[in-house]
Amino acid sequence: MEIKTLSQLDLQNKRVILRCDLNVPIKDGVIIDDRRIRASLSTIRKLLAKDCSIVVIAHLGRPKPDQKNNLSLAPVAKRLSELLETEVAFSEEIIGIKQKTDSLKTGQILLLENIRFLAAETSKDELERKALSSELATYGQVYIGDGFGAVHRKHASVYELAKMMPHAAGDLIITELGVLEKLTMNPNRPYGVVLGGAKVSDKIGVISNLLEKVDLIAIGGGMVFTFLSAHGKEIGKSLVENDLIPTVKELMKRAENLGVKIILPTDIVVAKEFNAESNATIVASDEIPKDQMGLDIGPESARFFADEIGKCKTVFWNGPMGVFEFNNFSNGTRSVAQALTKIDGISVVGGGDSAAAVRKLGFSDQDFGYISTGGGASLEYLEGKELPGLVALS
Ligand code: 3PG
Repeated sequence: MEIKTLSQLDLQNKRVILRCDLNVPIKDGVIIDDRRIRASLSTIRKLLAKDCSIVVIAHLGRPKPDQKNNLSLAPVAKRLSELLETEVAFSEEIIGIKQKTDSLKTGQILLLENIRFLAAETSKDELERKALSSELATYGQVYIGDGFGAVHRKHASVYELAKMMPHAAGDLIITELGVLEKLTMNPNRPYGVVLGGAKVSDKIGVISNLLEKVDLIAIGGGMVFTFLSAHGKEIGKSLVENDLIPTVKELMKRAENLGVKIILPTDIVVAKEFNAESNATIVASDEIPKDQMGLDIGPESARFFADEIGKCKTVFWNGPMGVFEFNNFSNGTRSVAQALTKIDGISVVGGGDSAAAVRKLGFSDQDFGYISTGGGASLEYLEGKELPGLVALS
């Protein structure tokens, strides 16, 4: 897929519409993790160096009409302005502001309010999305897509708007694609993938696609209990997706035929209740008591996972091994993160929960080869799916 970069588009003195992913965690008006904002700076600086004026479009969360107040991008405008050391104006209005955008002067930046406040942005109806993007298109002369975390969404500002205007991808998208290509085109071997998180259903596609490409898949997190259950093990009150057991059995058979190792934990940290203070006990993975639930992989498994990861030259990790937010159940995730920091090769942490986990557990971004800004986007890329935001830019 050929995608134009910033240097391939005439940007001098243009009014640019820039789609970023500024979907950052905000608590009580305070930004908890500004990495996605920082990741957008390179493109913005390049546009400023070309004497552009910039209309930034972004989303925050998944607003329902009654949640609007909590999901304003206003704090993001402030943070962006601090990081750029230049004023970033904020427009509460998204529609009918052509006069405002027309009057932007060289070097001026205007961030629009959360584009998802408009139902048309995420509408399933293409005509509604097109109507919105036609309005947005009047705000600029060229479109730069740089919101990597949202490229898997067929949304008005990601897909239709890009197609309507001369366009290119920003630096973040190009960087992310460069890293993901290393994972898909001739990766150095052994190539291991570590998957966790709550749901198997979120990861089935990626497991299925990667089976042909990897040497080992280590599985932890809540999704592991569907695998253990498929092996006929007692999983007590642990999370399970019973309807996926046949699919999981099929995946395991395919893995066996392809010679791909699927590693499951041999011990589990269990507790009676899902809370931070629950008493944690370690049991063998085939001896989970009926009244308990698994909340982390056990220490023996954590060591084994770390050893196997340590042998790899390429590792992709998505999804925590346990409930890392609770200290008693964070060891598995910490061990996997630690192992990734030491590999002699490339380690990529898929965004979302795993990125949040490594930061919460005190690792720095520099400890890893790359931490993606896209959770769903990087997974869907590895699944081999067409990503609308990239198709539109190609
Ligand atoms: C993300 O957080 O992964 C991106 O911003 C996309 O958000 P979404 O999953 O709500 O579309």
